[in-house]
Amino acid sequence: MNTLKIALAYSGGLDTSVMVKWLQENYGAEVVTVTGDLGQKKELLGVEEKARSLGVTSAHVLDLKDRFVDEYVFPALKAGALYEGIYPMATALGRPLLAKTLVEIARKEGCNAVAHGCTGKGNDQVRFEATVAALAPDLTVLAPVRSWEFKSREDEIAYCEEHGIQVSATRVSPYSIDENLWGTSIECGVLEDPMVEPPADAYQRTVSPFDAPDEVTYVMIEFEKGIPVALNGRRMKGSELIDALNEIAGANGIGRIDMVENRLVGIKSREIYEAPAAVALHFAHTELERLTLDKEVAHYKAKVAQDYANLIYNGLWFSPLKSALDGFVEQTQQTVNGMVKLKFYKGNLTIAGRTSPNSLYDTGLATYTDEDSFDHKASEGFIKIFSLPLKTYHRVNAALLADVSSSLEAHH
Ligand code: ARG
Repeated sequence: MNTLKIALAYSGGLDTSVMVKWLQENYGAEVVTVTGDLGQKKELLGVEEKARSLGVTSAHVLDLKDRFVDEYVFPALKAGALYEGIYPMATALGRPLLAKTLVEIARKEGCNAVAHGCTGKGNDQVRFEATVAALAPDLTVLAPVRSWEFKSREDEIAYCEEHGIQVSATRVSPYSIDENLWGTSIECGVLEDPMVEPPADAYQRTVSPFDAPDEVTYVMIEFEKGIPVALNGRRMKGSELIDALNEIAGANGIGRIDMVENRLVGIKSREIYEAPAAVALHFAHTELERLTLDKEVAHYKAKVAQDYANLIYNGLWFSPLKSALDGFVEQTQQTVNGMVKLKFYKGNLTIAGRTSPNSLYDTGLATYTDEDSFDHKASEGFIKIFSLPLKTYHRVNAALLADVSSSLEAHH
Protein backbone atom coordinates (compact mmCIF):
# COMPACT_ATOMS: atom_id res chain seq x y z
CA MET A 1 0.00 0.00 0.00
CA ASN A 2 1.20 3.50 -0.79
CA THR A 3 1.95 5.52 2.28
CA LEU A 4 -0.56 8.26 2.91
CA LYS A 5 0.61 11.81 3.00
CA ILE A 6 -2.06 13.95 4.58
CA ALA A 7 -2.50 17.71 4.65
CA LEU A 8 -4.39 18.52 7.84
CA ALA A 9 -6.29 21.74 8.49
CA TYR A 10 -4.68 22.50 11.83
CA SER A 11 -6.02 25.04 14.33
CA GLY A 12 -3.63 24.28 17.17
CA GLY A 13 -6.52 23.25 19.39
CA LEU A 14 -7.02 19.96 21.19
CA ASP A 15 -8.89 18.06 18.45
CA THR A 16 -6.48 18.72 15.62
CA SER A 17 -3.42 18.23 17.85
CA VAL A 18 -4.67 14.81 18.87
CA MET A 19 -5.45 14.22 15.21
CA VAL A 20 -1.83 14.62 14.08
CA LYS A 21 -0.73 11.73 16.28
CA TRP A 22 -3.86 9.75 15.55
CA LEU A 23 -3.33 9.94 11.79
CA GLN A 24 0.33 9.01 12.16
CA GLU A 25 -0.60 6.02 14.35
CA ASN A 26 -3.71 4.74 12.59
CA TYR A 27 -2.64 5.22 8.99
CA GLY A 28 1.12 5.22 9.35
CA ALA A 29 0.73 8.53 7.55
CA GLU A 30 3.00 11.49 7.03
CA VAL A 31 1.21 14.62 8.21
CA VAL A 32 1.61 18.15 6.90
CA THR A 33 -0.25 20.83 8.87
CA VAL A 34 -1.88 23.86 7.31
CA THR A 35 -2.99 26.77 9.48
CA GLY A 36 -4.61 29.83 7.98
CA ASP A 37 -4.41 33.18 9.72
CA LEU A 38 -7.81 34.76 9.17
CA GLY A 39 -7.24 37.23 11.97
CA GLN A 40 -8.01 34.92 14.89
CA LYS A 41 -5.40 36.68 17.08
CA LYS A 42 -5.27 34.57 20.28
CA GLU A 43 -5.42 31.14 18.70
CA LEU A 44 -2.28 31.38 16.58
CA LEU A 45 0.31 31.89 19.28
CA GLY A 46 2.91 29.13 19.06
CA VAL A 47 0.91 27.10 16.58
CA GLU A 48 3.85 26.31 14.31
CA GLU A 49 6.07 25.11 17.18
CA LYS A 50 3.21 23.05 18.47
CA ALA A 51 2.73 21.34 15.11
CA ARG A 52 6.48 20.65 14.84
CA SER A 53 6.54 19.14 18.32
CA LEU A 54 4.01 16.59 17.08
CA GLY A 55 6.44 15.27 14.49
CA VAL A 56 4.84 16.64 11.34
CA THR A 57 6.67 16.57 8.01
CA SER A 58 6.11 20.29 7.63
CA ALA A 59 4.01 22.98 9.28
CA HIS A 60 2.55 25.77 7.19
CA VAL A 61 1.13 28.92 8.76
CA LEU A 62 -0.22 31.31 6.16
CA ASP A 63 -1.36 34.88 6.51
CA LEU A 64 -4.67 34.84 4.65
CA LYS A 65 -6.17 38.00 6.13
CA ASP A 66 -6.15 40.10 2.98
CA ARG A 67 -7.34 37.28 0.76
CA PHE A 68 -10.07 36.53 3.24
CA VAL A 69 -11.29 40.11 3.28
CA ASP A 70 -10.89 40.95 -0.41
CA GLU A 71 -12.05 37.67 -1.96
CA TYR A 72 -14.61 36.37 0.56
CA VAL A 73 -15.78 38.99 3.07
CA PHE A 74 -16.26 41.92 0.71
CA PRO A 75 -18.17 39.97 -1.95
CA ALA A 76 -20.52 38.81 0.83
CA LEU A 77 -20.85 42.38 2.12
CA LYS A 78 -21.62 43.69 -1.36
CA ALA A 79 -24.25 40.98 -1.76
CA GLY A 80 -25.77 41.89 1.61
CA ALA A 81 -25.44 38.23 2.61
CA LEU A 82 -26.74 37.60 6.13
CA TYR A 83 -27.90 34.06 6.87
CA GLU A 84 -31.54 34.03 7.90
CA GLY A 85 -31.32 37.79 7.79
CA ILE A 86 -28.96 38.04 10.78
CA TYR A 87 -25.71 36.03 10.80
CA PRO A 88 -22.80 37.73 8.92
CA MET A 89 -21.15 34.29 8.49
CA ALA A 90 -17.60 34.78 9.73
CA THR A 91 -17.18 31.03 10.14
CA ALA A 92 -18.98 30.12 6.93
CA LEU A 93 -16.89 32.56 4.85
CA GLY A 94 -13.62 31.32 6.30
CA ARG A 95 -14.11 27.67 5.40
CA PRO A 96 -13.88 27.79 1.60
CA LEU A 97 -10.64 29.77 1.84
CA LEU A 98 -9.16 27.39 4.42
CA ALA A 99 -10.18 24.39 2.32
CA LYS A 100 -8.81 25.99 -0.86
CA THR A 101 -5.51 26.71 0.90
CA LEU A 102 -5.41 23.15 2.21
CA VAL A 103 -5.76 21.89 -1.36
CA GLU A 104 -3.01 24.25 -2.58
CA ILE A 105 -0.57 23.00 0.06
CA ALA A 106 -1.62 19.39 -0.50
CA ARG A 107 -0.68 19.82 -4.19
CA LYS A 108 2.66 21.48 -3.40
CA GLU A 109 3.59 18.79 -0.90
CA GLY A 110 2.41 15.89 -3.04
CA CYS A 111 -0.23 14.77 -0.56
CA ASN A 112 -2.83 12.19 -1.53
CA ALA A 113 -5.31 13.09 1.19
CA VAL A 114 -6.58 16.00 3.25
CA ALA A 115 -8.09 15.94 6.74
CA HIS A 116 -10.13 18.29 8.89
CA GLY A 117 -11.27 18.41 12.50
CA CYS A 118 -14.96 19.14 12.00
CA THR A 119 -17.61 17.13 13.80
CA GLY A 120 -20.25 15.04 12.07
CA LYS A 121 -23.19 17.27 12.91
CA GLY A 122 -22.14 20.73 11.84
CA ASN A 123 -22.02 22.83 8.71
CA ASP A 124 -18.25 23.12 8.63
CA GLN A 125 -17.67 19.51 7.49
CA VAL A 126 -19.93 20.22 4.51
CA ARG A 127 -18.14 23.46 3.64
CA PHE A 128 -14.72 21.79 3.78
CA GLU A 129 -15.65 18.73 1.82
CA ALA A 130 -17.80 20.47 -0.78
CA THR A 131 -14.88 22.81 -1.47
CA VAL A 132 -12.42 19.94 -1.81
CA ALA A 133 -14.91 18.10 -4.03
CA ALA A 134 -15.07 21.15 -6.29
CA LEU A 135 -11.36 21.95 -6.42
CA ALA A 136 -9.62 18.60 -6.04
CA PRO A 137 -12.05 15.70 -6.52
CA ASP A 138 -9.17 13.21 -6.63
CA LEU A 139 -8.03 13.90 -3.07
CA THR A 140 -9.26 11.60 -0.31
CA VAL A 141 -10.93 13.48 2.54
CA LEU A 142 -10.53 12.19 6.08
CA ALA A 143 -12.77 13.40 8.90
CA PRO A 144 -11.48 11.49 11.93
CA VAL A 145 -13.78 13.21 14.44
CA ARG A 146 -16.74 11.49 12.78
CA SER A 147 -15.33 8.04 13.49
CA TRP A 148 -12.57 7.99 16.05
CA GLU A 149 -12.77 6.35 19.48
CA PHE A 150 -12.71 9.47 21.65
CA LYS A 151 -16.06 10.24 23.24
CA SER A 152 -15.08 13.32 25.21
CA ARG A 153 -12.47 15.96 25.83
CA GLU A 154 -11.25 13.84 28.75
CA ASP A 155 -10.59 10.87 26.42
CA GLU A 156 -8.56 13.14 24.18
CA ILE A 157 -6.59 14.57 27.09
CA ALA A 158 -5.83 11.03 28.27
CA TYR A 159 -4.57 10.21 24.74
CA CYS A 160 -2.36 13.30 24.87
CA GLU A 161 -0.87 12.19 28.17
CA GLU A 162 -0.14 8.71 26.78
CA HIS A 163 1.57 10.22 23.75
CA GLY A 164 3.43 13.05 25.43
CA ILE A 165 1.38 15.78 23.74
CA GLN A 166 1.32 19.01 25.71
CA VAL A 167 -2.16 20.30 26.48
CA SER A 168 -2.28 23.87 27.61
CA ALA A 169 -4.82 24.41 30.37
CA THR A 170 -5.37 27.97 29.17
CA ARG A 171 -7.23 26.65 26.17
CA VAL A 172 -9.90 25.01 28.28
CA SER A 173 -13.02 27.10 27.89
CA PRO A 174 -16.63 26.26 28.69
CA TYR A 175 -17.49 27.20 25.09
CA SER A 176 -16.56 26.19 21.58
CA ILE A 177 -15.21 29.28 19.88
CA ASP A 178 -14.33 29.99 16.27
CA GLU A 179 -12.83 33.41 15.62
CA ASN A 180 -11.64 35.49 12.69
CA LEU A 181 -11.54 39.10 11.49
CA TRP A 182 -15.20 39.06 10.44
CA GLY A 183 -16.53 37.72 13.72
CA THR A 184 -16.59 35.18 16.51
CA SER A 185 -18.92 32.18 16.80
CA ILE A 186 -19.59 30.90 20.32
CA GLU A 187 -21.43 27.66 21.12
CA CYS A 188 -21.78 24.88 23.71
CA GLY A 189 -21.98 24.79 27.49
CA VAL A 190 -24.88 26.66 29.03
CA LEU A 191 -25.57 28.33 25.66
CA GLU A 192 -27.16 25.10 24.46
CA ASP A 193 -30.31 26.09 26.37
CA PRO A 194 -32.00 28.76 24.25
CA MET A 195 -33.71 30.12 27.36
CA VAL A 196 -30.40 30.84 29.10
CA GLU A 197 -29.09 34.35 28.64
CA PRO A 198 -25.39 34.26 27.67
CA PRO A 199 -23.19 34.74 30.74
CA ALA A 200 -20.81 37.70 30.57
CA ASP A 201 -17.83 35.40 29.91
CA ALA A 202 -19.37 34.08 26.69
CA TYR A 203 -18.47 37.34 24.96
CA GLN A 204 -14.91 37.63 23.68
CA ARG A 205 -14.60 40.93 21.83
CA THR A 206 -17.47 43.25 22.74
CA VAL A 207 -18.30 45.05 25.95
CA SER A 208 -21.77 44.89 27.44
CA PRO A 209 -23.87 47.88 26.32
CA PHE A 210 -24.27 48.57 30.03
CA ASP A 211 -20.50 49.13 30.40
CA ALA A 212 -20.10 51.02 27.12
CA PRO A 213 -19.16 54.72 27.20
CA ASP A 214 -21.87 57.20 28.17
CA GLU A 215 -20.92 59.38 25.19
CA VAL A 216 -21.97 58.92 21.60
CA THR A 217 -19.31 57.76 19.10
CA TYR A 218 -19.60 58.82 15.45
CA VAL A 219 -17.88 56.87 12.73
CA MET A 220 -17.60 57.78 9.06
CA ILE A 221 -17.25 55.02 6.49
CA GLU A 222 -16.52 55.69 2.83
CA PHE A 223 -17.44 53.19 0.15
CA GLU A 224 -16.25 52.77 -3.44
CA LYS A 225 -18.25 50.38 -5.59
CA GLY A 226 -19.72 48.82 -2.47
CA ILE A 227 -16.38 48.32 -0.73
CA PRO A 228 -15.41 50.22 2.43
CA VAL A 229 -12.18 52.11 1.70
CA ALA A 230 -11.82 54.71 4.46
CA LEU A 231 -12.65 55.03 8.13
CA ASN A 232 -13.02 58.48 9.67
CA GLY A 233 -11.34 60.03 6.65
CA ARG A 234 -8.33 57.68 6.65
CA ARG A 235 -7.91 55.39 3.69
CA MET A 236 -6.86 51.90 4.63
CA LYS A 237 -6.90 48.41 3.26
CA GLY A 238 -9.86 46.19 4.04
CA SER A 239 -8.31 44.05 6.76
CA GLU A 240 -7.07 47.13 8.65
CA LEU A 241 -10.40 48.88 8.33
CA ILE A 242 -12.25 45.87 9.71
CA ASP A 243 -9.72 45.51 12.51
CA ALA A 244 -10.08 49.17 13.51
CA LEU A 245 -13.86 49.14 13.25
CA ASN A 246 -14.07 45.96 15.35
CA GLU A 247 -12.32 47.85 18.15
CA ILE A 248 -14.50 50.95 17.99
CA ALA A 249 -17.83 49.18 17.53
CA GLY A 250 -16.94 46.44 20.03
CA ALA A 251 -16.09 49.03 22.66
CA ASN A 252 -19.61 50.43 22.19
CA GLY A 253 -21.33 47.08 22.65
CA ILE A 254 -22.24 46.78 18.96
CA GLY A 255 -22.40 43.43 17.15
CA ARG A 256 -23.74 40.95 19.70
CA ILE A 257 -26.07 38.40 18.13
CA ASP A 258 -28.06 35.68 19.87
CA MET A 259 -29.90 33.48 17.39
CA VAL A 260 -31.43 30.08 16.83
CA GLU A 261 -30.51 29.03 13.31
CA ASN A 262 -31.24 26.21 10.89
CA ARG A 263 -28.16 24.16 10.10
CA LEU A 264 -27.83 22.42 6.75
CA VAL A 265 -27.83 19.01 8.49
CA GLY A 266 -31.32 19.57 9.85
CA ILE A 267 -30.55 20.70 13.38
CA LYS A 268 -31.69 23.92 14.98
CA SER A 269 -28.83 25.35 16.99
CA ARG A 270 -28.47 28.26 19.35
CA GLU A 271 -25.55 30.47 18.42
CA ILE A 272 -23.90 33.51 19.91
CA TYR A 273 -22.00 35.70 17.49
CA GLU A 274 -19.91 38.79 17.96
CA ALA A 275 -19.33 40.71 14.77
CA PRO A 276 -18.93 44.40 15.55
CA ALA A 277 -17.42 45.49 12.23
CA ALA A 278 -19.56 43.14 10.16
CA VAL A 279 -22.80 44.38 11.71
CA ALA A 280 -21.78 48.02 11.32
CA LEU A 281 -20.57 47.55 7.72
CA HIS A 282 -23.65 45.64 6.57
CA PHE A 283 -25.82 48.34 8.10
CA ALA A 284 -23.83 51.19 6.52
CA HIS A 285 -23.65 49.46 3.14
CA THR A 286 -27.41 48.89 3.06
CA GLU A 287 -28.03 52.52 4.00
CA LEU A 288 -25.82 53.69 1.15
CA GLU A 289 -27.70 51.40 -1.22
CA ARG A 290 -30.97 52.97 -0.09
CA LEU A 291 -29.61 56.23 -1.44
CA THR A 292 -27.96 54.97 -4.61
CA LEU A 293 -29.79 51.91 -5.95
CA ASP A 294 -32.71 52.10 -8.31
CA LYS A 295 -35.87 50.86 -6.57
CA GLU A 296 -36.34 47.75 -8.73
CA VAL A 297 -32.69 46.76 -8.38
CA ALA A 298 -32.83 47.27 -4.61
CA HIS A 299 -35.92 45.13 -4.23
CA TYR A 300 -34.57 42.41 -6.50
CA LYS A 301 -31.21 42.46 -4.76
CA ALA A 302 -32.81 41.67 -1.39
CA LYS A 303 -33.97 38.34 -2.84
CA VAL A 304 -30.54 37.65 -4.33
CA ALA A 305 -29.01 38.41 -0.93
CA GLN A 306 -30.98 35.62 0.66
CA ASP A 307 -29.97 33.07 -1.98
CA TYR A 308 -26.36 34.25 -1.84
CA ALA A 309 -26.33 33.84 1.95
CA ASN A 310 -27.75 30.33 1.66
CA LEU A 311 -25.03 29.36 -0.83
CA ILE A 312 -22.31 30.58 1.52
CA TYR A 313 -23.87 28.99 4.57
CA ASN A 314 -24.32 25.68 2.78
CA GLY A 315 -20.71 25.47 1.58
CA LEU A 316 -21.41 26.21 -2.09
CA TRP A 317 -18.93 29.06 -2.51
CA PHE A 318 -17.38 27.41 -5.59
CA SER A 319 -20.68 26.81 -7.32
CA PRO A 320 -21.82 28.08 -10.72
CA LEU A 321 -24.86 29.81 -9.21
CA LYS A 322 -22.63 31.74 -6.81
CA SER A 323 -20.44 32.93 -9.72
CA ALA A 324 -23.50 33.93 -11.72
CA LEU A 325 -24.92 35.91 -8.80
CA ASP A 326 -21.54 37.62 -8.41
CA GLY A 327 -22.08 39.08 -11.86
CA PHE A 328 -25.40 40.56 -10.80
CA VAL A 329 -24.06 41.92 -7.52
CA GLU A 330 -21.00 43.46 -9.17
CA GLN A 331 -23.20 45.28 -11.67
CA THR A 332 -25.33 46.73 -8.86
CA GLN A 333 -22.32 48.03 -6.96
CA GLN A 334 -21.01 50.39 -9.65
CA THR A 335 -22.93 53.31 -8.13
CA VAL A 336 -22.57 52.36 -4.47
CA ASN A 337 -20.11 55.17 -3.74
CA GLY A 338 -20.20 57.66 -0.92
CA MET A 339 -20.03 58.11 2.82
CA VAL A 340 -22.18 56.92 5.69
CA LYS A 341 -22.00 58.46 9.14
CA LEU A 342 -22.87 56.01 11.89
CA LYS A 343 -23.69 56.67 15.50
CA PHE A 344 -22.79 54.14 18.23
CA TYR A 345 -24.30 54.45 21.66
CA LYS A 346 -24.49 51.69 24.26
CA GLY A 347 -25.14 48.84 21.88
CA ASN A 348 -27.27 50.94 19.55
CA LEU A 349 -26.34 51.41 15.95
CA THR A 350 -28.08 54.19 14.07
CA ILE A 351 -27.47 56.25 11.00
CA ALA A 352 -26.51 59.89 11.42
CA GLY A 353 -26.13 60.80 7.74
CA ARG A 354 -25.32 59.65 4.23
CA THR A 355 -24.03 61.28 1.07
CA SER A 356 -23.09 60.07 -2.40
CA PRO A 357 -22.03 61.40 -5.79
CA ASN A 358 -24.48 58.81 -7.15
CA SER A 359 -27.31 59.76 -4.83
CA LEU A 360 -30.72 59.32 -6.46
CA TYR A 361 -32.27 61.50 -3.78
CA ASP A 362 -33.52 64.63 -5.56
CA THR A 363 -34.33 67.45 -3.15
CA GLY A 364 -36.38 69.24 -5.80
CA LEU A 365 -38.62 66.20 -6.12
CA ALA A 366 -38.75 65.41 -2.41
CA THR A 367 -39.22 68.83 -0.85
CA TYR A 368 -42.42 70.26 0.58
CA THR A 369 -41.14 73.82 0.23
CA ASP A 370 -41.63 76.21 -2.70
CA GLU A 371 -38.50 74.72 -4.32
CA ASP A 372 -40.74 71.82 -5.31
CA SER A 373 -40.27 70.63 -8.91
CA PHE A 374 -42.61 67.62 -8.82
CA ASP A 375 -45.53 67.70 -11.28
CA HIS A 376 -48.47 67.34 -8.89
CA LYS A 377 -51.10 67.41 -11.63
CA ALA A 378 -49.53 64.41 -13.36
CA SER A 379 -50.41 62.32 -10.29
CA GLU A 380 -54.07 62.45 -11.15
CA GLY A 381 -53.72 60.54 -14.41
CA PHE A 382 -51.08 58.27 -12.91
CA ILE A 383 -53.37 57.13 -10.11
CA LYS A 384 -56.30 56.69 -12.48
CA ILE A 385 -54.41 54.16 -14.58
CA PHE A 386 -52.46 52.64 -11.68
CA SER A 387 -55.69 51.73 -9.88
CA LEU A 388 -57.58 50.63 -12.99
CA PRO A 389 -57.09 46.88 -12.36
CA LEU A 390 -58.38 47.27 -8.78
CA LYS A 391 -61.41 49.13 -10.01
CA THR A 392 -62.17 46.44 -12.56
CA TYR A 393 -61.67 43.56 -10.11
CA HIS A 394 -63.98 45.01 -7.49
CA ARG A 395 -66.65 45.96 -10.03
CA VAL A 396 -66.74 42.46 -11.52
CA ASN A 397 -66.62 40.61 -8.19
CA ALA A 398 -68.66 42.91 -5.94
CA ALA A 399 -71.41 40.36 -5.26
CA LEU A 400 -69.02 37.49 -4.63
CA LEU A 401 -66.87 39.58 -2.26
CA ALA A 402 -69.95 40.64 -0.28
CA ASP A 403 -70.91 36.94 0.15
CA VAL A 404 -67.42 36.00 1.32
CA SER A 405 -67.25 38.75 3.89
CA SER A 406 -70.70 38.01 5.31
CA SER A 407 -69.87 34.29 5.64
CA LEU A 408 -66.61 35.19 7.42
CA GLU A 409 -68.56 37.36 9.83
CA ALA A 410 -71.02 34.51 10.48
CA HIS A 411 -68.10 32.42 11.78
CA HIS A 412 -67.37 34.95 14.51
N1 ARG B 1 -23.20 27.90 13.22
C1 ARG B 1 -22.17 28.69 12.66
C2 ARG B 1 -21.92 28.26 11.25
O1 ARG B 1 -22.26 27.16 10.89
C3 ARG B 1 -20.93 28.71 13.51
C4 ARG B 1 -20.15 27.43 13.52
C5 ARG B 1 -19.02 27.53 14.46
N2 ARG B 1 -18.02 26.55 14.13
C6 ARG B 1 -17.18 26.05 14.98
N3 ARG B 1 -16.33 25.17 14.55
N4 ARG B 1 -17.19 26.35 16.26
O2 ARG B 1 -21.39 29.00 10.49
